[in-house]
Amino acid sequence: MNPTDHTQRLIQHYADANLVHRLREALIAEGDNPDALSCDQIAPIDQLHLGGRAASRQLADKAGFIPGQQVLDLGCGTGGTSRLLLDEYGVQVIGVDITPAFIETAVWLTQACGLHPRAKFICADAQQLPLEAESVDAIWSQHTLMNLPNLEAGLAEAARVLKPGGQLLLHELLQGENPAPLDFPVPWADEAGTSHLRPQQAFEQALSAAGFTLKRSEDISQQALAWRQKHRAKEARGQTGILTPQLIFGPRFIQMGKNLLDNLASDKVRLVEAIWVKS
Ligand SMILES: C[S@@+](CC[C@H](N)C(=O)[O-])C[C@H]1O[C@@H](n2cnc3c(N)ncnc32)[C@H](O)[C@@H]1O
Repeated sequence: MNPTDHTQRLIQHYADANLVHRLREALIAEGDNPDALSCDQIAPIDQLHLGGRAASRQLADKAGFIPGQQVLDLGCGTGGTSRLLLDEYGVQVIGVDITPAFIETAVWLTQACGLHPRAKFICADAQQLPLEAESVDAIWSQHTLMNLPNLEAGLAEAARVLKPGGQLLLHELLQGENPAPLDFPVPWADEAGTSHLRPQQAFEQALSAAGFTLKRSEDISQQALAWRQKHRAKEARGQTGILTPQLIFGPRFIQMGKNLLDNLASDKVRLVEAIWVKS
Protein backbone atom coordinates (compact mmCIF):
# COMPACT_ATOMS: atom_id res chain seq x y z
CA MET A 1 0.00 0.00 0.00
CA ASN A 2 1.49 3.40 -0.84
CA PRO A 3 1.21 6.28 1.66
CA THR A 4 -1.44 8.07 -0.38
CA ASP A 5 -3.78 5.06 -0.28
CA HIS A 6 -3.16 4.73 3.43
CA THR A 7 -3.92 8.40 4.09
CA GLN A 8 -7.09 8.28 2.00
CA ARG A 9 -8.33 5.19 3.80
CA LEU A 10 -7.61 6.77 7.16
CA ILE A 11 -9.44 9.99 6.27
CA GLN A 12 -12.42 8.00 4.96
CA HIS A 13 -12.46 6.02 8.18
CA TYR A 14 -12.57 9.10 10.39
CA ALA A 15 -14.71 11.74 8.78
CA ASP A 16 -16.56 12.74 5.63
CA ALA A 17 -16.72 16.31 4.34
CA ASN A 18 -20.23 16.85 5.83
CA LEU A 19 -19.12 16.43 9.42
CA VAL A 20 -19.42 20.08 10.49
CA HIS A 21 -22.85 20.37 8.88
CA ARG A 22 -24.05 17.18 10.59
CA LEU A 23 -22.81 18.25 14.01
CA ARG A 24 -24.28 21.75 13.67
CA GLU A 25 -27.67 20.27 12.70
CA ALA A 26 -27.56 17.93 15.74
CA LEU A 27 -26.81 20.84 18.07
CA ILE A 28 -29.63 22.92 16.57
CA ALA A 29 -31.99 19.94 16.97
CA GLU A 30 -31.01 19.90 20.68
CA GLY A 31 -31.97 23.57 20.93
CA ASP A 32 -28.33 24.72 21.18
CA ASN A 33 -26.63 27.59 19.36
CA PRO A 34 -23.76 25.96 17.39
CA ASP A 35 -21.78 29.21 17.55
CA ALA A 36 -21.92 29.61 21.33
CA LEU A 37 -20.91 26.39 23.08
CA SER A 38 -19.15 25.24 26.22
CA CYS A 39 -16.40 22.61 26.44
CA ASP A 40 -18.59 20.59 28.85
CA GLN A 41 -21.46 20.48 26.40
CA ILE A 42 -19.45 19.10 23.48
CA ALA A 43 -17.37 16.52 25.40
CA PRO A 44 -19.26 13.57 23.83
CA ILE A 45 -18.04 14.55 20.34
CA ASP A 46 -14.57 15.89 21.03
CA GLN A 47 -12.88 13.19 23.12
CA LEU A 48 -11.95 10.43 20.66
CA HIS A 49 -10.04 8.36 23.21
CA LEU A 50 -10.59 6.05 26.15
CA GLY A 51 -11.31 7.77 29.45
CA GLY A 52 -12.65 11.08 28.10
CA ARG A 53 -11.55 14.33 29.71
CA ALA A 54 -10.67 12.67 33.03
CA ALA A 55 -7.94 10.66 31.26
CA SER A 56 -6.55 13.82 29.66
CA ARG A 57 -6.49 15.65 33.00
CA GLN A 58 -4.81 12.66 34.65
CA LEU A 59 -1.87 12.96 32.25
CA ALA A 60 -1.88 16.78 32.03
CA ASP A 61 -1.68 17.03 35.83
CA LYS A 62 1.63 15.13 35.67
CA ALA A 63 3.04 17.29 32.87
CA GLY A 64 3.90 20.38 34.94
CA PHE A 65 2.78 22.72 32.15
CA ILE A 66 3.74 26.38 32.50
CA PRO A 67 1.08 28.83 31.27
CA GLY A 68 2.02 30.27 27.89
CA GLN A 69 4.05 27.22 26.83
CA GLN A 70 3.55 26.06 23.25
CA VAL A 71 2.10 22.52 23.09
CA LEU A 72 1.71 20.51 19.91
CA ASP A 73 -1.36 18.23 19.98
CA LEU A 74 -0.40 15.53 17.51
CA GLY A 75 -3.46 13.96 15.85
CA CYS A 76 -5.76 16.42 17.63
CA GLY A 77 -8.99 15.06 16.11
CA THR A 78 -11.88 17.49 16.69
CA GLY A 79 -9.67 19.39 19.15
CA GLY A 80 -11.17 18.39 22.50
CA THR A 81 -7.88 17.98 24.32
CA SER A 82 -6.39 21.05 22.64
CA ARG A 83 -9.26 23.07 24.15
CA LEU A 84 -8.90 21.38 27.54
CA LEU A 85 -5.17 22.20 27.67
CA LEU A 86 -5.84 25.80 26.62
CA ASP A 87 -8.73 26.32 28.96
CA GLU A 88 -7.53 24.53 32.08
CA TYR A 89 -3.72 24.64 31.86
CA GLY A 90 -3.20 28.04 30.19
CA VAL A 91 -0.90 26.79 27.43
CA GLN A 92 -1.02 27.72 23.76
CA VAL A 93 -1.80 24.85 21.41
CA ILE A 94 -1.05 23.89 17.84
CA GLY A 95 -3.33 21.04 16.85
CA VAL A 96 -2.23 18.95 13.87
CA ASP A 97 -4.41 16.32 12.21
CA ILE A 98 -4.41 14.53 8.87
CA THR A 99 -8.22 14.43 8.55
CA PRO A 100 -9.44 17.71 6.95
CA ALA A 101 -12.99 17.54 8.38
CA PHE A 102 -11.60 17.12 11.90
CA ILE A 103 -9.49 20.28 11.52
CA GLU A 104 -12.53 22.15 10.18
CA THR A 105 -14.53 20.91 13.18
CA ALA A 106 -11.74 21.81 15.63
CA VAL A 107 -11.56 25.38 14.29
CA TRP A 108 -15.34 25.84 14.52
CA LEU A 109 -15.71 24.32 18.01
CA THR A 110 -12.76 26.30 19.39
CA GLN A 111 -14.26 29.55 18.09
CA ALA A 112 -17.70 28.56 19.39
CA CYS A 113 -16.16 27.99 22.84
CA GLY A 114 -14.46 31.41 22.69
CA LEU A 115 -10.92 29.99 22.86
CA HIS A 116 -9.64 30.68 19.34
CA PRO A 117 -6.95 33.34 19.85
CA ARG A 118 -4.70 30.84 21.69
CA ALA A 119 -5.20 27.87 19.36
CA LYS A 120 -4.02 27.13 15.87
CA PHE A 121 -5.07 24.07 13.87
CA ILE A 122 -3.19 22.69 10.88
CA CYS A 123 -4.14 19.85 8.55
CA ALA A 124 -0.88 17.91 8.12
CA ASP A 125 0.76 14.52 8.47
CA ALA A 126 2.51 13.86 11.80
CA GLN A 127 5.22 12.09 9.78
CA GLN A 128 6.00 15.37 7.96
CA LEU A 129 5.25 18.33 10.22
CA PRO A 130 5.12 21.86 8.74
CA LEU A 131 6.81 23.26 11.86
CA GLU A 132 10.25 24.73 12.57
CA ALA A 133 12.89 22.67 14.38
CA GLU A 134 12.85 23.05 18.18
CA SER A 135 9.74 25.24 18.05
CA VAL A 136 7.43 23.61 20.65
CA ASP A 137 7.83 23.15 24.41
CA ALA A 138 5.86 19.90 24.68
CA ILE A 139 4.12 17.37 22.46
CA TRP A 140 0.85 15.65 23.35
CA SER A 141 -0.05 12.42 21.54
CA GLN A 142 -3.30 10.71 22.50
CA HIS A 143 -4.52 7.66 20.57
CA THR A 144 -2.64 8.76 17.44
CA LEU A 145 0.59 6.77 17.03
CA MET A 146 -1.32 3.50 16.36
CA ASN A 147 -2.43 5.06 13.06
CA LEU A 148 1.09 5.82 11.81
CA PRO A 149 2.41 3.32 9.25
CA ASN A 150 5.89 4.65 9.92
CA LEU A 151 6.26 5.17 13.68
CA GLU A 152 9.96 5.95 13.31
CA ALA A 153 9.22 8.84 10.89
CA GLY A 154 6.58 10.20 13.30
CA LEU A 155 8.95 10.04 16.26
CA ALA A 156 11.80 11.60 14.27
CA GLU A 157 9.51 14.53 13.42
CA ALA A 158 8.43 14.83 17.06
CA ALA A 159 12.09 14.90 18.12
CA ARG A 160 12.89 17.50 15.45
CA VAL A 161 10.18 20.04 16.43
CA LEU A 162 10.49 19.59 20.22
CA LYS A 163 12.87 21.84 22.18
CA PRO A 164 15.70 20.03 24.03
CA GLY A 165 14.42 18.89 27.42
CA GLY A 166 10.80 19.08 26.18
CA GLN A 167 8.33 16.38 27.11
CA LEU A 168 6.49 13.96 24.84
CA LEU A 169 3.24 13.12 26.66
CA LEU A 170 1.68 9.87 25.55
CA HIS A 171 -1.76 8.32 26.04
CA GLU A 172 -1.38 5.59 23.48
CA LEU A 173 -2.69 2.17 22.48
CA LEU A 174 -0.25 -0.70 22.15
CA GLN A 175 -0.40 -4.35 21.15
CA GLY A 176 -1.18 -6.65 24.09
CA GLU A 177 0.29 -10.08 24.89
CA ASN A 178 -2.54 -11.97 23.14
CA PRO A 179 -1.30 -12.72 19.58
CA ALA A 180 -4.80 -13.38 18.14
CA PRO A 181 -5.95 -10.92 15.45
CA LEU A 182 -7.86 -7.84 16.61
CA ASP A 183 -11.62 -7.69 16.23
CA PHE A 184 -12.45 -4.98 13.64
CA PRO A 185 -13.79 -2.35 13.25
CA VAL A 186 -12.29 -0.41 16.16
CA PRO A 187 -12.57 3.37 16.61
CA TRP A 188 -9.16 3.97 15.00
CA ALA A 189 -9.47 1.59 12.02
CA ASP A 190 -11.97 -0.40 9.99
CA GLU A 191 -9.41 -3.04 9.11
CA ALA A 192 -5.85 -4.19 9.82
CA GLY A 193 -4.33 -2.08 7.01
CA THR A 194 -4.70 1.18 8.96
CA SER A 195 -4.04 -0.17 12.47
CA HIS A 196 -0.37 -0.19 13.50
CA LEU A 197 -0.26 -1.18 17.15
CA ARG A 198 3.25 -1.96 18.40
CA PRO A 199 4.29 -4.26 21.22
CA GLN A 200 5.46 -2.22 24.22
CA GLN A 201 9.11 -3.24 23.89
CA ALA A 202 9.33 -2.27 20.20
CA PHE A 203 7.46 0.98 20.93
CA GLU A 204 9.90 1.92 23.69
CA GLN A 205 12.90 0.96 21.57
CA ALA A 206 11.66 3.26 18.79
CA LEU A 207 11.27 6.13 21.28
CA SER A 208 14.80 5.61 22.64
CA ALA A 209 16.23 5.39 19.12
CA ALA A 210 14.53 8.72 18.27
CA GLY A 211 16.35 10.41 21.17
CA PHE A 212 13.79 10.26 23.97
CA THR A 213 14.43 9.16 27.56
CA LEU A 214 11.69 7.55 29.64
CA LYS A 215 10.53 9.60 32.64
CA ARG A 216 7.51 7.51 33.63
CA SER A 217 5.17 4.91 32.14
CA GLU A 218 2.06 3.20 33.44
CA ASP A 219 -0.20 0.54 31.98
CA ILE A 220 -3.73 1.91 32.47
CA SER A 221 -5.58 -0.80 30.52
CA GLN A 222 -7.73 -1.87 33.49
CA GLN A 223 -8.82 1.70 34.10
CA ALA A 224 -9.70 2.05 30.39
CA LEU A 225 -11.59 -1.24 30.42
CA ALA A 226 -13.72 -0.13 33.38
CA TRP A 227 -14.46 3.19 31.66
CA ARG A 228 -15.47 1.52 28.39
CA GLN A 229 -17.68 -0.99 30.26
CA LYS A 230 -19.47 1.88 31.99
CA HIS A 231 -20.01 3.67 28.68
CA ARG A 232 -21.15 0.54 26.89
CA ALA A 233 -23.80 -0.01 29.58
CA LYS A 234 -25.02 3.59 29.07
CA GLU A 235 -25.08 3.10 25.29
CA ALA A 236 -27.07 -0.13 25.69
CA ARG A 237 -29.62 1.69 27.87
CA GLY A 238 -29.85 4.51 25.29
CA GLN A 239 -28.70 7.04 27.92
CA THR A 240 -26.20 8.94 25.82
CA GLY A 241 -28.35 11.80 24.43
CA ILE A 242 -28.14 12.98 20.83
CA LEU A 243 -24.50 14.16 20.92
CA THR A 244 -22.50 10.93 20.66
CA PRO A 245 -19.52 9.61 18.67
CA GLN A 246 -22.15 8.00 16.41
CA LEU A 247 -22.60 11.46 14.84
CA ILE A 248 -19.00 11.15 13.67
CA PHE A 249 -18.67 7.42 12.96
CA GLY A 250 -22.31 6.51 12.17
CA PRO A 251 -24.08 3.38 13.45
CA ARG A 252 -20.85 1.33 13.12
CA PHE A 253 -19.67 3.03 16.33
CA ILE A 254 -21.72 0.51 18.36
CA GLN A 255 -19.66 -2.37 16.92
CA MET A 256 -16.42 -0.37 17.26
CA GLY A 257 -17.12 0.20 20.95
CA LYS A 258 -17.94 -3.48 21.54
CA ASN A 259 -14.79 -4.62 19.72
CA LEU A 260 -12.62 -2.17 21.61
CA LEU A 261 -13.98 -3.55 24.87
CA ASP A 262 -13.39 -7.16 23.77
CA ASN A 263 -9.87 -6.38 22.48
CA LEU A 264 -8.95 -4.72 25.78
CA ALA A 265 -10.52 -7.47 27.90
CA SER A 266 -8.64 -10.20 25.98
CA ASP A 267 -5.30 -8.32 26.13
CA LYS A 268 -5.05 -7.84 22.36
CA VAL A 269 -4.79 -4.10 23.08
CA ARG A 270 -3.25 -2.18 25.96
CA LEU A 271 -3.32 1.45 26.95
CA VAL A 272 -0.29 3.26 28.36
CA GLU A 273 0.19 6.68 29.83
CA ALA A 274 3.83 7.78 29.58
CA ILE A 275 6.13 10.78 29.64
CA TRP A 276 9.34 10.79 27.60
CA VAL A 277 11.86 13.61 27.53
CA LYS A 278 13.92 14.76 24.55
CA SER A 279 17.54 14.31 25.56
C1 LIG B 1 -8.45 8.10 17.63
S1 LIG B 1 -8.29 9.69 16.98
C2 LIG B 1 -7.76 10.61 18.42
C3 LIG B 1 -8.00 12.08 18.27
C4 LIG B 1 -7.58 12.92 19.47
N1 LIG B 1 -6.19 12.76 19.80
C5 LIG B 1 -8.43 12.60 20.66
O1 LIG B 1 -7.92 11.91 21.55
O2 LIG B 1 -9.59 13.04 20.71
C6 LIG B 1 -6.76 9.58 16.04
C7 LIG B 1 -6.48 10.86 15.29
O3 LIG B 1 -5.19 10.78 14.70
C8 LIG B 1 -5.26 11.40 13.42
N2 LIG B 1 -4.14 10.88 12.62
C9 LIG B 1 -3.93 9.61 12.22
N3 LIG B 1 -2.80 9.53 11.49
C10 LIG B 1 -2.27 10.78 11.45
C11 LIG B 1 -1.12 11.33 10.85
N4 LIG B 1 -0.28 10.60 10.13
N5 LIG B 1 -0.90 12.64 11.02
C12 LIG B 1 -1.74 13.42 11.73
N6 LIG B 1 -2.87 12.95 12.30
C13 LIG B 1 -3.13 11.64 12.17
C14 LIG B 1 -6.63 10.99 12.91
O4 LIG B 1 -7.08 11.81 11.85
C15 LIG B 1 -7.46 11.12 14.17
O5 LIG B 1 -7.97 12.42 14.31
